Amino acid sequence: MKSNSTYIITIDGTSGSGKTTISNALAKKLGFSLLDSGKLYRSAGFVYLQSKESFSDLNTIKDLISKITISSSKDSNEFEISFDNKKIDHLLYTEEISESASIVSKIPEVRECMLKLQKLCVKGKGLIANGRDMGTEVFPEADLKLYVSASLDIRARRRYEELKSKGDDVSLKNVYKSLQKRDESDTNRSISPLRVPDNAQIIDTSDLKPDAIVDKILNLYTITQN
Ligand code: DC
Repeated sequence: MKSNSTYIITIDGTSGSGKTTISNALAKKLGFSLLDSGKLYRSAGFVYLQSKESFSDLNTIKDLISKITISSSKDSNEFEISFDNKKIDHLLYTEEISESASIVSKIPEVRECMLKLQKLCVKGKGLIANGRDMGTEVFPEADLKLYVSASLDIRARRRYEELKSKGDDVSLKNVYKSLQKRDESDTNRSISPLRVPDNAQIIDTSDLKPDAIVDKILNLYTITQN
């Protein structure tokens, strides 16, 4: 049984594997805070889209990225993101930002700034941190490490339906291709590539409903407490 320190659960996996849904539900059930590191990289992508020309100069990148801050929310478990003191969480889920986040996440200086922000989230009784390198690079000391995956077909359909329900004009074929491109980029990049962390539990979410996955993880959590 842990005492006096923050219990950390990392959830890594490919885009659209269900990390966000699972992390939200787990954070609520356990009363832990939630760090969605993909959202943090999206905020860097947001900054990049606004000032592409400045991204050729490493000092300017650092200056711009240092205007990204995170804070606890009064209304939810999830850390909120601001740029230049303005909340930007609601602006980060477009295909354009998905692509620019994938570009900037390969810049070492960006990852260095993100690492510092992510470490600040370790406080309180527990933290759920999801992304690509949570269990490998950011929180290798985590108490419970999970790796979630699902087939590309299933992930593309899920993401397509999510974007459609928000009124985005997208085709299934383009969503599929974009996810495929991001998988390649996330797994083949030289810096912090997506991989299964040592000692991680692997969960295939293709045929499981979110509730069943959350129950499975809560079970694993209980086992680590004994
Ligand atoms: O999970 P997501 O689609 O919101 O992530 C957006 C992008 O950020 C994705 O291209 C991968 C990148 N990312 C990363 O490089 N490292 C993380 N820990 C999380 C996300």
